[in-house]
Amino acid sequence: MIKLLTIIGARPQIIKSAALSRAIKNKFSDTVREIIVHTGQHYDDNMSQVFFDELDIPHPNYNLNVGSGSHGKQTALMIEGIEEILLKEKPNCIVLYGDTNSTLAGAVAASKIQVPIVHVEAGLRSFNKAMPEEVNRIMCDSVSTLLFSPTKAGFDNLVKEGFKKKNSPPYSFDNPKIYHCGDVMFDNSLHFSTVAKKKSAILSDNGLEDGSFLLATIHRNNNTDEPERLNALFRAINKISIENDIKIVLPLHPRTAKLLSQNLTPELYSTVKTNELIKIIPPVSFLEMIALEKNAFLVMTDSGGVQKEAFFFKKPCIILRSETEWVELVSSGSAIVADANEVEIIKAFEKFKKMKRLKFPDLFGDGNAAEFICQEILKNIR
Ligand code: UD1
Ligand code: UDP
Repeated sequence: MIKLLTIIGARPQIIKSAALSRAIKNKFSDTVREIIVHTGQHYDDNMSQVFFDELDIPHPNYNLNVGSGSHGKQTALMIEGIEEILLKEKPNCIVLYGDTNSTLAGAVAASKIQVPIVHVEAGLRSFNKAMPEEVNRIMCDSVSTLLFSPTKAGFDNLVKEGFKKKNSPPYSFDNPKIYHCGDVMFDNSLHFSTVAKKKSAILSDNGLEDGSFLLATIHRNNNTDEPERLNALFRAINKISIENDIKIVLPLHPRTAKLLSQNLTPELYSTVKTNELIKIIPPVSFLEMIALEKNAFLVMTDSGGVQKEAFFFKKPCIILRSETEWVELVSSGSAIVADANEVEIIKAFEKFKKMKRLKFPDLFGDGNAAEFICQEILKNIR
């Protein structure tokens, strides 16, 4: 029996962890024991608890309750708490997801006391170090022992950074193993999409049954914190809704919700608030999100996860950032990088309106990435 210690904290990590916990429960319960540590980075019910209730994720064994704060303070509190738990639990490895401050804290704490690190979603790069997540993911990859990349591009990034394509066990901090293994979020989307259909009333509750609506999410720090960018995004959203007489639903991250009145001009804020075609709602559950994604005409987002889910559900996507780590979406033609640029966003929308057939090749595995990850951990971690 080996003991994994999983770190979660932010919404997308909680959702990603469901895939591995499910694989452990269904296939590896005799050989793998999972201890879950929630850092408390996200804490509102609709940013955290809802996912445990809905996605059959085991209740965390520990919650550090660090809450919000500056990057330094938040990460430091997490490192201190995670180190204490690692020393007490003595797991065979730590499992880290993605690129948040919770990921970085797990990587720092574990590497300092030589607990092997398994990084799920390794190798992704935006090549923009102004983005806090880019720094977090590079630092985590550099001290990981098993690195699982969801995409070929992610695997290739690691090779370019000097990771060996082929090497022999035993794997360690100094002899890490890299994999291209598919995406645990694709596993989750396949698994939960049938459930979402049965369970969610989000469409009828918001008058969206006809499927001719757009779904938008905005939470990236530069989009929320830079007034110029936030205003450009909302001008585009407002124009598209009015000129096309189309509803746009925005489940809004608390970060964005808090900054909307502060960073939009009073005129635009009032226009957005009174535009009945723009439906700003609180963050929704994952099953509700899937229902929205499956039924939307198009998705506009600065989220990494939502970009991919648009692709999984065969929807065009306008990426509200200046670059993306998920480069395959753009090269397949189903996503356009429009940044926070009003003109480019509207241009991308007009383009997708006219396009009849988009391509969504199989790029994210076969839905069994989590199972593969468990097998490799069992094989290679002592
Ligand atoms: C974090 C991640 C980001 C990820 C996002 C997923 C980092 C550096 N960023 O960004 O990569 O895409 O999570 O959603 O780790 N807040 C609440 N309630 C909550 C959580 C947050 O009100 O439950 C508000 C607080 O005002 C907080 C702000 O949102 O200061 C930002 O939260 P934080 O976790 O620091 O960063 P995110 O923007 O959520
Ligand atoms: N999500 C959700 N409810 C919402 C918005 C997003 O369940 O209101 C899910 C979404 O389906 C995806 C994940 O959260 O699986 C993406 O997280 P987020 O956009 O917060 O972060 P990112 O992926 O950009 O790190």
